[in-house]
Amino acid sequence: MSVHLNVRKVTTHVLHKMKLQKEKISMLTAYDYSIAKLIDQAGIDVILVGDSASNVMAGYDSTLPITLDEMIYHASSVVRAVKRALVVVDLPFGSYQGNSKFALSSAIRIMKETGAHAIKMEGGEEINESVRRVLSAGIPVMGHLGLTPQSIHKFGTYVVRARDEEEAEKLIKDAHILEESGCFAIVLEKIPAKLAKQVAQELLIPIIGIGAGPDVDGQVLVIHDLLGITQEFSPRFLRRYHNLSCEIKGAVENYISDVKNVNFPNEKESY
Ligand code: KIV
Repeated sequence: MSVHLNVRKVTTHVLHKMKLQKEKISMLTAYDYSIAKLIDQAGIDVILVGDSASNVMAGYDSTLPITLDEMIYHASSVVRAVKRALVVVDLPFGSYQGNSKFALSSAIRIMKETGAHAIKMEGGEEINESVRRVLSAGIPVMGHLGLTPQSIHKFGTYVVRARDEEEAEKLIKDAHILEESGCFAIVLEKIPAKLAKQVAQELLIPIIGIGAGPDVDGQVLVIHDLLGITQEFSPRFLRRYHNLSCEIKGAVENYISDVKNVNFPNEKESY
């Protein structure tokens, strides 16, 4: 029987049960009340208030500039809309790296000021002290390995990660470290499908992929990419389910034309 259809609220325990029962987990980003409400009503399992808001909402060319205050604004808007999905919020760049006390205070601010259910952090062994400290306060943590966009200036490019043996071995080791520390799930971004499959098989916690092939426990996409609102971003892993950019532009062109030709408002639309 589907776990998905039978829960009133998705929790970290529900996600574990889904992995045990081999039911795939669906996850999408959202950054505002209106979209969060729609995707929650559609039955999404997990909503990620991703720091990709820095790109798709604010127009920066990386995830680095977004601040903790801005993430809190986005996350509290999302939480107000959501009735069923588990809401996970990214700790933004600079709010947790290198100082576990600072990581805990950032995570506490997210939990207190937004009402979200969990936080996500990028990295493995190097951030494990922060992961453990946040977990010690009872805050669920989702890990993120592979292409970790907050480290883009270290990588230099957005190409597929962990193709070579050394990086693949480090990724597997990091995934085990995060599981042993108590993370409830891990996102694997842009890595070979075979490697992602191995991690999903070795770990008991759910593995959510983005550009990590089909043999993981769930998938995540950025909502603006899935809906075709973003046009310039076209990685191989992305499936666009709609072409909303054309629909929005078409609707706005019609509106402009109606305003110019005094076709809007008509008599019924006036008082
Ligand atoms: O910020 C984000 O949208 C993410 C996903 C790509 C996993 O971290």
